[in-house]
Amino acid sequence: MIDKILYLVLMLIVYFCNVINNLKLSKKNIILAIESSCDDTAAAILSGRKVLSNCIANQNLIHRAYGGVVPELASRAHQSKIIPVVSQALSKANIDKKELTAIAYTQGPGLLGSLLVGSTFAKSLAIALNIPLIPINHMNGHLLVHFIKDKKINPPVFPFLGVTLSGGHTQLVLVKKHFEMELIGSTIDDAIGEAFDKCGKKLGLSYPAGSQIDKLAKVGNSKRFPFPISNLNGYNVSYSGIKTAFINFIYKQKDPNFISENLNDLCASLQYTLIQIILNKIEKVAKDYRIDQIVIGGGVAANSEIRNQLEVYAKSNGWKIFLPPLHYTTDNAAMIGIAGYYKLKQKNYGTVSESAQARLKL
Ligand code: KG4
Ligand code: ZN
Repeated sequence: MIDKILYLVLMLIVYFCNVINNLKLSKKNIILAIESSCDDTAAAILSGRKVLSNCIANQNLIHRAYGGVVPELASRAHQSKIIPVVSQALSKANIDKKELTAIAYTQGPGLLGSLLVGSTFAKSLAIALNIPLIPINHMNGHLLVHFIKDKKINPPVFPFLGVTLSGGHTQLVLVKKHFEMELIGSTIDDAIGEAFDKCGKKLGLSYPAGSQIDKLAKVGNSKRFPFPISNLNGYNVSYSGIKTAFINFIYKQKDPNFISENLNDLCASLQYTLIQIILNKIEKVAKDYRIDQIVIGGGVAANSEIRNQLEVYAKSNGWKIFLPPLHYTTDNAAMIGIAGYYKLKQKNYGTVSESAQARLKL
C-alpha cells in the first residue's frame, strides 16, 4: 500500500515538474518592444508571436493646442512616459525583466528626438540585462503586424502587396519575405494621414483629425463637393494638390457658417477623394504586378470607408484583402515586437553603436 502511495506521489511530482518546465519553455523568446517614433510612447511584451501586453501612452492632448506634433514636446513626453509604459507592459504580461530574451526598438524613420528616447532606453536596458538588442524599421512593423498570433489575424502568404497608410508615409511595397520589402511607389509630397489631419484642421477639428473625419463622413454626402483626384504616371501618389484645393475651397466661402452647416458633406467629400487616390493606385499596381493579396497597415487603415471600399474592390478584382484589427493600425509596440521576433529567429541582432535614423529607408 505504502509503495503504491509513494509511486503516486512520485508520478505527481514528475507531472508538476513537466508542467513547470513547459511553462518555462513557453516563456522562451520573450521580447520587450519599444516604439517611440512620433507622438506615442508604446511598449509591448511578446512571447514568440503572441502578444502578452501592448501599452500606449498617447500625447494627443499635449499637441492638440498646436494642431500637429511639436517635436521637442514629443521628446520630453517620451522621456517622462517611457519608464511607466515599459513597467506597465511588463506587469500586465506578468513578466519580470530578468525573463526577457531580447529588446526590439524602433530605429527609424520618425522624429529624431523621439526615436532617441526609445533607442537610448532600449540600449541601456539591453546592456544592463546582457541580452540582444534588435533595431526595427517602423515601416516593416506596420506590415508585419499581420503575422501576430491572434484569432482575428490571418497571415498573408509571400509575396504580397503591402500598403502603408499613415500620418507620415504612404507606401506601396512588394513584400517578398519578412525583411525583403521593395518600395514600388510612395507619396511624392504629403502622406494620406497628413492630408486628413491638415484639411481637418481647416475644418476646426482637433489633431489628429482622421478619426473625426471618418465619423462625421458617415452621415455626409461624398458627392456633394467634387475635389480633384490626382493621378500621377507610374506608381507614386500625391496628396498636396487635394490638400491645397480643399483649403482654398474653404477660404473662398463667404458665409461664416459654411463649415458648420456643411461639415458632414465636407468630410465625406474629402474622405472620398483621399481614398480614391490610393485605391486607383493599388488597383494599378496589383494589375501590373499580378498580385492578388493586398495587405494594409498604418493609422489610416483604421478608416471605416477605406476598409469598406477595399472589400468592394477585393470582390471585383478577385483580391484577398488583409486588414489589421483596429488596435494594430495606429502606432503600437506589438508591431515592433513581431518584427523583432523574426529578427531574433534569424539571430539578426543590432549593436549599441547603431544610431536612431530619422530617414531610415525600407
Ligand atoms: O500610423 P500612425 O499611428 O502614425 C504614423 O506612423 O504616422 O498614423 C496616424 C495617422 C494620423 O494622420 C491619423 O489622423 C490617421 O492615422 N488616422 C485616421 C483614422 N485613424 C487614425 N485617418 C482616417 N480615418 C481614421 N479612422
Ligand atoms: Zn506609424
